[in-house]
Amino acid sequence: EWGVEPVELLVERGVEKVPSTYRRVSVEEEEELMALNDNSIAAAAEVEEEDRIGSGMDIPLIDLKEWDESHREEIVSKVREACEEWGFFRIVNHGVDVHLMQRMMQVAKEFIGLPIEEKAAYVGRPGMISQGYGSKYTIGAEDAVRDWRDYLFLWLQPEEVRDYAYWPSKPEAFRETMDQYSREVQELARKVLGLMSEGLAQRTGLLEEAIGEPPYQKVLINYYPACPQPQVVDGFHQHSDIGALTMVLQEDEAPVGLQVRYHNHWVPARPLPASFVVNVADQVEILTNGRYKSIEHRVVPNRHRSRLSIPVFYDAAPDVMISPVKELAQIPIYKQVKFDDHEHAFYEYGANGKNMVQSYILSN
Ligand code: SIN
Ligand code: FE2
Repeated sequence: EWGVEPVELLVERGVEKVPSTYRRVSVEEEEELMALNDNSIAAAAEVEEEDRIGSGMDIPLIDLKEWDESHREEIVSKVREACEEWGFFRIVNHGVDVHLMQRMMQVAKEFIGLPIEEKAAYVGRPGMISQGYGSKYTIGAEDAVRDWRDYLFLWLQPEEVRDYAYWPSKPEAFRETMDQYSREVQELARKVLGLMSEGLAQRTGLLEEAIGEPPYQKVLINYYPACPQPQVVDGFHQHSDIGALTMVLQEDEAPVGLQVRYHNHWVPARPLPASFVVNVADQVEILTNGRYKSIEHRVVPNRHRSRLSIPVFYDAAPDVMISPVKELAQIPIYKQVKFDDHEHAFYEYGANGKNMVQSYILSN
């Protein structure tokens, strides 16, 4: 029994108008936008869609080649600048086997491509915090606007938190690939956290230690079906990530979906083969007392084509208390928060900009 009907089923029925539960732009606002344009309604809609994608800007690209040798200092300062200015960057030559990345995307694609009856075997309980498959929405906001997104959510590390009941048995290579991917991405995340730490404190272990042992790791396989009215919905409403660090694998052939807030622009994070999109998440913003920014981002669907993405989250354990690290914060600007409380608030109220982190800011 689906808590919320998967978007895939809506699309299969051939809806031409998105149901009101998904609409973020009212019909009146949409008509006003259309009326502003002399062209046909269809052309106006396309223009509107284009407008949602920022100009020629792009998130920083960091080549990690030779990061253990001659170029370390240079790479450390690039990472620091990216974390301070953008909260987002792209890495290449990161050491994760490109074939493993391709296999991961392939098994994700094959799972999403299974008939809906087969995927139903992995449906999670209502509420986003539950592992499993579906288009589950928030516990505390059942009437909130829904995202144009179906997903599989799994906890990966430490291994005892895995619930294999939700791990697809099809395609056959899914489990083994996910297991290997989990280990390699976790290792890379530690290295990137090391570079981020060095940029602030000449000490590689600073952030990793503050996040604690063992770190947790979770994964989403996000599926954004093509949408007949992409200009009135979100694939993933704007939010900042709640953990410490996120590494996103995007489907190479798909249209731009992910957009990153940069001042007043939404900058597209275009797919780039063999790269990861890395972003600073809330815990690192708090730990660094705001030096590194956990930046809002969102996903827009496309009229003609679906898109897959696979973000992997590096998080603290639920009982870890997060507060600005003493050696980085003479005057802490955030109050302490237990990660479990932060995570539950997100799953209860859903993606909603940066409201949660802002609520931790001390008034003076
Ligand atoms: C997200 O997890 O914020 C979405 C990432 C994406 O679809 O690119
Ligand atoms: Fe995110």
